[in-house]
Amino acid sequence: MAPHTQQLTTAPAAAAVPAVPAVQLRGLTRSFNGRTVLDHVDLDLPVGQFTALLGHSGSGKSTLLRAIAGLDHEVVGSGQLTAPERVSVVFQDSRLLPWRRVLDNVLLGTDGKEAAAKGREALAEVGLAGRERAWPNELSGGEAQRAALARSLVREPELLLADEPFGALDALTRIRMHVLLRELWERHRPSVLLVTHDVDEAIVLADRVLVLEEGRIGLDLVIDPEVPRAEYRERLLAALGVTSDSR
Ligand SMILES: Nc1ncnc2c1ncn2[C@@H]1O[C@H](COP(=O)(O)OP(=O)(O)O)[C@@H](O)[C@H]1O
Ligand SMILES: [Mg+2]
Repeated sequence: MAPHTQQLTTAPAAAAVPAVPAVQLRGLTRSFNGRTVLDHVDLDLPVGQFTALLGHSGSGKSTLLRAIAGLDHEVVGSGQLTAPERVSVVFQDSRLLPWRRVLDNVLLGTDGKEAAAKGREALAEVGLAGRERAWPNELSGGEAQRAALARSLVREPELLLADEPFGALDALTRIRMHVLLRELWERHRPSVLLVTHDVDEAIVLADRVLVLEEGRIGLDLVIDPEVPRAEYRERLLAALGVTSDSR
């Protein structure tokens, strides 16, 4: 019995090795026509963390997300950028191909025998079981975004990037999508970077909230569930330049 106990007590040593973050940016810079949008951004996103990125319109949120997604070839070489291999991106519009049925959209770019089964499973997870053969134009805005989430899931992403994915939805649908996204995250635990301009959405969903300002991460808050949300709300609104006068 004794040697066994010994083994158990030495085990935590392995856990002390620092974890490699899912995303690591060092000095990432991006300019358009001589105007700097991202100015030497440094950022680590730990594996499995749900992070929200806030900022004014035009502050560079989408530019940062596109860089991390590997969609911006110009940004390469401006600094250091490390991101996982399996990355899924969800945008404000579902980007479903109208001439393909829902399941075929979800399966786009995947292959293998198990793909169809995984696609059905992903659709069931987002509440679209039975809609596999529907055409995209038969879906509501919320359902289309559910399908987009299913498409992202089927790739089993290590990192899920979402660029204002609920921006075009009505308030009630948004709330339902918040619940769904949080559930999916809890079940699959990808690292998430959610771009939003909605302070409340950020605080409700994320464990950490960043504010992009003047090309840098101006504020970086870890959300402690024990602390009243209102406190974070005030700080974030202040960082975004929204004072009580202007509300
Ligand atoms: N491809 C592009 N060409 C020129 N300017 C761009 C391009 N993409 C983004 N920008 C500019 O960079 C700034 C940041 O854009 P963006 O990242 O889309 O902001 P956000 O998503 O925070 O609203 C804006 O001023 C935008 O006009
Ligand atoms: Mg944007």
